[in-house]
Amino acid sequence: MSNSGVFDLVAISTNQSFIQRCAHLASRFSFDFSHYDNPDTFSNDTTDAGSVKCFILDCTKFSNIHEAAGPIQVARQMMDKSYIICILDARVKPEQMELLKKSGANLIILDTEFTSNSKLEFITSQVIKSAYLPIKVTDLILDSSLEAPLYMLMPKNQKYLKVYKPGLNIGNEFLCRYEDADELYLHRNDVSKWLEYVKSFPADEEHQEVRNCRAQFIKLQQVFLDLVLILSDQTSSTSFSDGKLLFEDCKKFTKDLLTSLEKVRYPWQIINNSSVGDFGSVERGTAIAAYAGLLSRKSNIGEPERVMLAALLSDIGILLLSPAATEKIREQKAGKLSAEEKMEFEKHPIFSVNQILSKRIPLDDDVRNMIMLSHERTDQKGFPNQPSPNKITEDSALVRLSQEIDQCLTIRMGDIKKDFAAAFQAFIEAKLEVGDGYSLATLYKLRPHFKVTS
Ligand SMILES: [Fe+2]
Repeated sequence: MSNSGVFDLVAISTNQSFIQRCAHLASRFSFDFSHYDNPDTFSNDTTDAGSVKCFILDCTKFSNIHEAAGPIQVARQMMDKSYIICILDARVKPEQMELLKKSGANLIILDTEFTSNSKLEFITSQVIKSAYLPIKVTDLILDSSLEAPLYMLMPKNQKYLKVYKPGLNIGNEFLCRYEDADELYLHRNDVSKWLEYVKSFPADEEHQEVRNCRAQFIKLQQVFLDLVLILSDQTSSTSFSDGKLLFEDCKKFTKDLLTSLEKVRYPWQIINNSSVGDFGSVERGTAIAAYAGLLSRKSNIGEPERVMLAALLSDIGILLLSPAATEKIREQKAGKLSAEEKMEFEKHPIFSVNQILSKRIPLDDDVRNMIMLSHERTDQKGFPNQPSPNKITEDSALVRLSQEIDQCLTIRMGDIKKDFAAAFQAFIEAKLEVGDGYSLATLYKLRPHFKVTS
């Protein structure tokens, strides 16, 4: 039977528990999912392989690595834009893993971590949900041209329809036609072309700053995703220098984003609208970092670039928690964590720091302290160490507060639109009323900056 369906996620395995793991994940994230026993039945049955967003190949049963390389090369040829993940036996040597990457695999996950941690949840949510990035129609310039295709999201079936071919002139008729849509979409592989476009075709001064700011968000989001992938890569086939380079890029791009945010009139709304995430705080890392950095700059608490970096990285340890634990956290049912899961969760700041250090990335003491203190409270009800209140630095409180701001103010799919200005101000007033484990002196310093035009 020929299958012309378009799938977000395709898994290839004869192992039932492997398929169940993928099917469960697909149901929780609402991915269109299909699975096959082997790569041949998939290629025979599928007429539209190119539109598969993520392809997972179970390579644990192959007797040698060359047997796995063949199907990966074929898959790469069939699916040039798909994200290909190989699951490998943990005993395979790192240099052999390299062969699979050269054959076209984007990522290798070891069988031991496939079931025990939540890397798969994070990666699939990123590469599937963020396969297409929204760009504002108002950021397109009359009589310009972009070297990447643009797509429209069809509300009926949630599929992407190509509406612009690379290189064509963007005329008045095109802009008018999509004006009401507000947003068009760009494939994540084309981000660099979009950044080039924003630079080559500038808008008038004030609008250009806003466009720049949105472009900086996209840039940071991409490099942050790559960094998270490298940090959580336990295959040891990635070099330490790659991690260091990405970390340096992250530092540079957080700085660029902060500079850009300082130039726009309504920075808080831009952060608020920056992206919609399904994985919670890791995926929202860039927005949380932006809140923290801007608050630091405005209130003179801490050093803004360091605060941003700590906010960006503080939750990457969550990826090491079990799939069952992160599912509860994502669905905001933290109260339902078992005793063991709760203990695991409360260690995540330590996991975050350890993941960075294990890749020999130089983390300065201030950033490390902020990450370690990012869940501590002055009432000593925080975690993981519950230090005395005077040990909790003001800059670390900014990291915790920014996560809470983001959680409180992000508009999720299906939510009723909030009045941002009112919600933003109400947030700090509510904190001042109850304290919530923050130092009141810190909250009072921050209070004047909770105005959208401040
Ligand atoms: Fe955290």
